[in-house]
Amino acid sequence: MAKIIDGKAISMKIKDELKEKTAKMKSEGINICLAVIQVGNDPASSVYVRNKKNACKYIGIESLSYELPEDTTEEQLLELVEKLNKDSKVNGILVQLPLPSHIDEDKIIESILPLKDVDGFHPQSVGALSIGQPGFVSCTPAGVIQLLKRSDIEIEGKECVVIGRSNIVGKPMAQLLLRENGTVTIAHSRTKNLKEVARRADILVVAMGKPKFINKEYIKDGAVVIDVGIHRMENNKLCGDVDYDDIIESVSAITPVPGGVGPMTIAMLMNNCVESVELQKK
Ligand code: GUN
Repeated sequence: MAKIIDGKAISMKIKDELKEKTAKMKSEGINICLAVIQVGNDPASSVYVRNKKNACKYIGIESLSYELPEDTTEEQLLELVEKLNKDSKVNGILVQLPLPSHIDEDKIIESILPLKDVDGFHPQSVGALSIGQPGFVSCTPAGVIQLLKRSDIEIEGKECVVIGRSNIVGKPMAQLLLRENGTVTIAHSRTKNLKEVARRADILVVAMGKPKFINKEYIKDGAVVIDVGIHRMENNKLCGDVDYDDIIESVSAITPVPGGVGPMTIAMLMNNCVESVELQKK
């Protein structure tokens, strides 16, 4: 019987641990504050931003909300980030992506002070991860590591295959699995014999953005499968990059969609906000 990894329950437990930590910090006079910036009103972004602010409220983190119009200039956004960089009351700065096309996303990400980069997207945060120095780690891959650890799935020495090489998920995912002493392969759209490569995996992390692409032909018997994909199907239900029903008999553990990796992203963002205080102290 495959173990179904319950991301909702694990994320809730993490949020409750953070709530406790935050209350203790508050009693010592330490307040945590996250600034959330959204430019325009992309409906998906609005949902994410609302969920992030609600999580802050639950845990006891103050959130400052900046909802800027679609025609905000790059300069105006840079000015706001600069102001928040200098504001000692603000511990974390989050600029919700995607930004409107007239704004250079990389430039904005690079303008955030690395010590306040709770998304872990700044080149300095990315570099710190790759050389094992302290810094913020991208929330979704950090959440995957927590799912594995809290489900007692050992990473050390395991064959780990990550399908997908994005800056936000695939690459940091591979770095984190490596940090946990996994033997890591990154596969992607140009990989030859993807089935063969995927079938090597004891732990297969799929972040390719293709609905139900991974069927049992890609799975070694007893593998652990982590599905980072999320797609809305024609019947309005959600599915992942993995064909869950097809592979369920072959795996030893699997994350469902929804309720697997998804809820972990915000829990890890909250974790980064709490950790920011420690990082900024040093
Ligand atoms: N857009 C989609 N996911 C994310 C995320 O994790 N952080 C930010 N800032 N924007 C996003």
